[in-house]
Amino acid sequence: MKLSIKTTKQKFTQTDLLVVLSKKGAKLALPDGVKLPKHAVDSFEGKSREIRMVDPTAGAAKRVLLIGIGGGRNIDTETVRRCGAIASKQAEKADVVTAAIWFDIAAGKTAEAVGQALAEGVVMGTYHLDDFKKDPAEPSLKRTVIYGNSTEFNRGARKGEVIGAANCLAKRLQDTPGNLMRPRDLVAEARKIARRSKYISIDVIDEKKMKELGMGSLLSVSRGSSEPAYLIHLTYKKPKSSSKKVCLVGKGLTFDAGGISIKPSARMEEMKYDMSGGAAVLGAFDAIADLEPGMEVHGLVPTSENLPDGKANKPGDLVVAMNGLSIEVLNTDAEGRLILADAMSYAVEKIKPDHMIDLATLTGAAVVALGHEYSGVFGMDQTLIDALVESGKRTGELVWPLPIHDLHKKDMKGRVGDLKNIGSPSTGAGASTAAAFLSNFVGDVSWAHLDIAGSAWGSKERDYQSSTQGTGVGVRLLLDYLEHLS
Ligand code: BES
Ligand code: MN
Ligand code: ZN
Repeated sequence: MKLSIKTTKQKFTQTDLLVVLSKKGAKLALPDGVKLPKHAVDSFEGKSREIRMVDPTAGAAKRVLLIGIGGGRNIDTETVRRCGAIASKQAEKADVVTAAIWFDIAAGKTAEAVGQALAEGVVMGTYHLDDFKKDPAEPSLKRTVIYGNSTEFNRGARKGEVIGAANCLAKRLQDTPGNLMRPRDLVAEARKIARRSKYISIDVIDEKKMKELGMGSLLSVSRGSSEPAYLIHLTYKKPKSSSKKVCLVGKGLTFDAGGISIKPSARMEEMKYDMSGGAAVLGAFDAIADLEPGMEVHGLVPTSENLPDGKANKPGDLVVAMNGLSIEVLNTDAEGRLILADAMSYAVEKIKPDHMIDLATLTGAAVVALGHEYSGVFGMDQTLIDALVESGKRTGELVWPLPIHDLHKKDMKGRVGDLKNIGSPSTGAGASTAAAFLSNFVGDVSWAHLDIAGSAWGSKERDYQSSTQGTGVGVRLLLDYLEHLS
């Protein structure tokens, strides 16, 4: 679907489906010439996500869909995002080729955010994964026009289009089956993204280079798989970018069977999603190529499979990470932290960022603690944590802080080596001990860890995301964080 953005002052052109957003308690604002039967308009309240299909009596639209965004003083952006997705979904359901979305509601200071949310929703609402069917259902909807009523709204809508597309990219990487989204495939996707911008360069560190760098922890995970591991390093740098340097790190485990500490078979297929942190970083870079933010941004995606085999890590094995710390692998299923350890050591030593944020489907414990609607955030830099919580509120990608206590750090000390890769059963707090483990690899960089094990898939249906697919979580959050950093 092609999206274009016009203003409500421009001529309203012929369309199959006109979608009119309407605020509860306000008079319906329609394009010039469009007339609706009085009873239809009178009985439509404009409640949040209320919909009404109407046959117009005059004007350049074959059909009209009214969607309510609710009442109240402030417009709720999450509702608008959902309404955007409802518009796309209803247009597809009605089998139309062209649609127009009319937004002529006073949005005041929130106009840009509202425009962004609407376009995000419209684009995210068109996400499908039919590529793998013999006869994929070709969506009828080819062109959508958003008519906005202010320059701020339209600026937001243009941004929202880019961000919505980046979210869809992340979802596609997530939902693609593990045999088709291997570490090498993630590398290919990253190369595609790098080609999109002259300001983005890519360096792919292969296993040979990893050995030279001393990445024994990351290498120990891929040893049990016939697919080689890679560390993807994307760099976005504009000639005039500010001195601020941000590094985003995403866990890219394309399939996690647990290794020798093998997982139970029930729902193991969901472990194709163990690369969701990497998908978020690649998705963010896809948008960065278009949005061109002011600071330097690095993206690191350590990518590997975690499988059992004759060469695989065995419980009790000792591995040494790039920063020199030795790790007892007491459970081979706690592999995410092993690959992140080397990626973050690399960031600290080679990139030296001002801020580092890692995203990882790291622990089942995070799902127990927070469920599927929140990502957990951990770290020692309260300002960074607060910024991510605020970004979560703005984007609807909710974030909730969880602790790293000194006793959690102490619990991760090893007996044979410096560290062990799992906490003691008596400590509990599995999400916190995992974060405590990671804290050994961040040097003195301002750092936050997002555990997205719950939020990456399995969240409740939200119009713009399905409960049975990946959510692309992290993309919109990271982009909002970057936008508000400058
Ligand atoms: N990828 C999993 C975490 C996970 C589990 C994410 C379920 C989403 C749903 C991770 O690699 C893992 O296996 N973690 C273990 C750690 C444990 C062995 C300390 C876990 O959470 O069980
Ligand atoms: Mn695991
Ligand atoms: Zn994992």
